[in-house]
Amino acid sequence: MTPFEVVERDGLARLGRFDTPHGTVETPALLPVVHPDPARQPIPPAEMRSRLGVRAVITSSYIAWRTPPLRSVAEAVGIHGLLGYDGAVMTDSGAFQQHAYGTVEVTPEEILAFQLRVRSDIPTVLDVFTEPETPHDAAEAALEETLSRARAARAATPGLLAVPVQGGLHADLRWRSARAASGLGDVLAVGGVVPLLEQYRFVELARLIAAARPALSPGKAVHLFGTGHPMTFAFAALFGVDLFDSSAYHKFARRGRLLFPEGTVPIDEVRDPICRCFLCAERPLTDVARLPLPERERGIAFHNLVASLEEVGRVRRAIRDGTLWELAERRAGGHPALRAGLEEARRHADVFLATEPESRRAFREVGPESRERPAGVRFRHRVDGYRAGRPSARRIPGVALRPEYLAHLPVEDRAGRPLLWETTTPFGPVPFELGEVYPVGPYLGVDEFLEPRSHLSPAAFRERVVREVGAVADLDRDWTDDWTRRQLESLLEWRYGPRVRARIAPGLTGERSRRSGRLRSIRFGSEIHFHVGTDGLPRPTFRGAARLRPLLPLGRERVTVSDDAVPFVREGRSLFSRFVRSADPALVPGSTALLVDGSDTLLAVGRLLLAPPEMAALERGVAVRVVAHAGSRETEEDEPAPETE
Ligand code: GUN
Ligand code: ZN
Repeated sequence: MTPFEVVERDGLARLGRFDTPHGTVETPALLPVVHPDPARQPIPPAEMRSRLGVRAVITSSYIAWRTPPLRSVAEAVGIHGLLGYDGAVMTDSGAFQQHAYGTVEVTPEEILAFQLRVRSDIPTVLDVFTEPETPHDAAEAALEETLSRARAARAATPGLLAVPVQGGLHADLRWRSARAASGLGDVLAVGGVVPLLEQYRFVELARLIAAARPALSPGKAVHLFGTGHPMTFAFAALFGVDLFDSSAYHKFARRGRLLFPEGTVPIDEVRDPICRCFLCAERPLTDVARLPLPERERGIAFHNLVASLEEVGRVRRAIRDGTLWELAERRAGGHPALRAGLEEARRHADVFLATEPESRRAFREVGPESRERPAGVRFRHRVDGYRAGRPSARRIPGVALRPEYLAHLPVEDRAGRPLLWETTTPFGPVPFELGEVYPVGPYLGVDEFLEPRSHLSPAAFRERVVREVGAVADLDRDWTDDWTRRQLESLLEWRYGPRVRARIAPGLTGERSRRSGRLRSIRFGSEIHFHVGTDGLPRPTFRGAARLRPLLPLGRERVTVSDDAVPFVREGRSLFSRFVRSADPALVPGSTALLVDGSDTLLAVGRLLLAPPEMAALERGVAVRVVAHAGSRETEEDEPAPETE
């Protein structure tokens, strides 16, 4: 059984659970770096646990090993005894000291054996720290060495093992390293990045994580060595980093610097109560600043650790809410280097798209660059596909997609040829019938609040339409039947392609919300076959799925359930990833899929919680939540449309 389980996710980022012999760690998690010498800990790990709820720490096995008094205590009472801590302890191997001092005086076998002897929960392979400047051939040789050590360590380690990912700035080596580590480690620890983090080289950092990410198994926890500053947590989590470690809380404290997710503040410049964390509320930073040295350092370290843990909490909440891009963009506002790093991340949309959810609750814009998030890139690409093969569009700029405007637009010209109307949106011109689809539908940005540059009253709008095509549509109704038909057909095409649309559309009718005018459901006779969510996307009911199934090529839109789980899924129970036989690789988290057995009999309709490659890699956890099943078909019409709000 793998130790890692994904519980919730937002794109590549996930909320997970990682089991260790000393308890389960909820990820993303910050592992504070703790010195193995109790005399050199500003905050003892037991206090981190009791006052701050810290469930896991990381310490250097190498420092413990090369310091005889620490070594003998650790060998006698274990690493937990040495630290006086009963949470999970990950140990590092000495590669960081190799980076700092040029060499380490221990063999990979010796330091691994020591980590096992002191009963580390997560020992780490002694990797060869590869500096960013290392040329390709040297980085490759170092990587071969790291991998051979990792293979030996795996064979010698019965429990959990962290395998570092090296390769310098070379994308091909990072990929290879990540692939190999995925087959050996329980924690995949991306290393060699401390110089990049210290020098704010976030563009290169984004590039190398993007290179490694597709080769990192989605079933393994990912650690980023040295992600110390809370400013960077959201950025790292965006790439699916599950574990951060921080010595920054202490390192910055030594230099009198306060950490905040927005940046760093020297404590001597603090005049006002700028922090209300529970510690600073008790004892203001202005008082901490005047304490004698060891006390002052401890006070700052404590604030820094609290600020860092709070930021991890915000990252976790953002993942749950589907707002991690937003948080990362807000954090990037704190430093241009981080902003550049995020811009580089956006250039790697391909890395994000397989796990990019079908929709989110809202698309909230932080700045114009928000539109380049993977959701925006994918949407524009698909709009281009929709437009291809259609008549060239007539554009009505600066108009909200409201029924009072739409009602005036004919869907055909006088000769009966289809007309394509588009309006300008933050994502470029978009056909009117797609105006409710995520991300345009639930888009929230400043454009919504600015005075429209070319405001048209409904009357002026009507005049303009008459000028353009010499006709207007039926004015008696908010939405004409023509528009409802066009919209429902378009949504089915958007989701299932033109061939399925052509075959399923006859006989379908649309029903609009009386209050908002939005298309709420698509019916066949009196039966609801699709609900339309607040993200504007159609989702089949069981009956809808039953009609879709024979129209879709075999395997498409399907998740095939293994025989053992068939009876449970048919009764509406969730599908666990280990019972997934296969899944259409085009599905993404949030997609509604047809759950079928081995002979393509429809069992249920479900919402994906995982992307198909993740289902294959994760042995634990729910892959698909069933929303309708064979037994529920009689009642489902009474169910409210699945709201994403
Ligand atoms: N700590 C910071 N960077 C690294 C790294 O690359 N490898 C290891 N093992 N520890 C680190
Ligand atoms: Zn504080």
